[in-house]
Amino acid sequence: MRPALPGPVLTVPQASIKRYEVNISKAIELKEGMKALDLGCGVGGPMRTIAAASGAHVTGITINEYQVKRATEHNVAAGLATRCTVVQGNFLALPFAPATFDGAYCIEAACHAPKLVELYAQVFKALKPGAKFASYEWLKTPIYDANNPAHVRVVDGVAEGNALPDVRDLADVLAAAKAVGFTVVNCTDAALGAEIPWHAAMKSARMFSYITHYTTALLELIGWAPAGTAAVHKMLINAALDLEESGRLGVFTVRLLSHECQPVPHPASRSPCTCASSRSLCRRRDGGTGVTHTVEHLLLFYGVSIRSAPSAL
Ligand SMILES: C[S@@+](CC[C@H](N)C(=O)[O-])C[C@H]1O[C@@H](n2cnc3c(N)ncnc32)[C@H](O)[C@@H]1O
Repeated sequence: MRPALPGPVLTVPQASIKRYEVNISKAIELKEGMKALDLGCGVGGPMRTIAAASGAHVTGITINEYQVKRATEHNVAAGLATRCTVVQGNFLALPFAPATFDGAYCIEAACHAPKLVELYAQVFKALKPGAKFASYEWLKTPIYDANNPAHVRVVDGVAEGNALPDVRDLADVLAAAKAVGFTVVNCTDAALGAEIPWHAAMKSARMFSYITHYTTALLELIGWAPAGTAAVHKMLINAALDLEESGRLGVFTVRLLSHECQPVPHPASRSPCTCASSRSLCRRRDGGTGVTHTVEHLLLFYGVSIRSAPSAL
């Protein structure tokens, strides 16, 4: 029998986060017995939700050795040690044989890749033919206006505070997907119309972060914390403030769900794309079809999704 989703009774925000996690596994159609790859897995929160909900085995990769240790401990505590594996490594040089995974996902981690195309190329190689990839991307939205100083300031702040090499937009995602051979089926800002705006978490944590900040400064003053700790903490607070403001203005999203699939090297791949879930991209060796889908879904994003933007503000 599958273990229950980790965690006791969930708060409304926790349940909302779990829904986003389960939705990405649905987008790539993960099922019992499949092998999935979690790129930039952190301490494994999504991995545990997805392994428990889908029955798939999830391998997570993170560049951070400490996260590997913590994620592994959490996996054991959740009774998911046989379903979840965590490895330390660089997702720009994946340590897996080609065509290893039945599906892959990336949650709020691709933004750390200096070149998205390099990450997508690695994912493409690691997937089996026909397998799917979905990613919650951190992106500027179509509302972002490069001539609006308030938009520029807040998005630059997000980049600086989160050490992002660049802040990309949907066109960059589509270009990277296309460059490595994925066909775009669809992509949607999953934050639009959300029950709880993603930036609400930053607001509710704000007071607590100030308490932590003054505690950190005190510890540094008496020599219990290394010099510079309070400055780093301040930088993180500023990053959270800029994220909150960028979400409030609607110029930035952390939930642009893109979804792609591997080519199917047989005649079936020439049939019209069947990956048309509302939150996906797809990869096929079918000539023009993929481009048509890309254009259709780009229009969908800019034309339809944006109209519901106020509900996310
Ligand atoms: C914002 S966290 C997201 C963590 C997790 N996906 C989640 O949603 O809880 C970004 C993650 O990307 C990982 N990461 C950043 N650059 C990486 C790289 N080059 N290779 C592997 N992991 C990387 C970080 O270590 C971190 O775990």
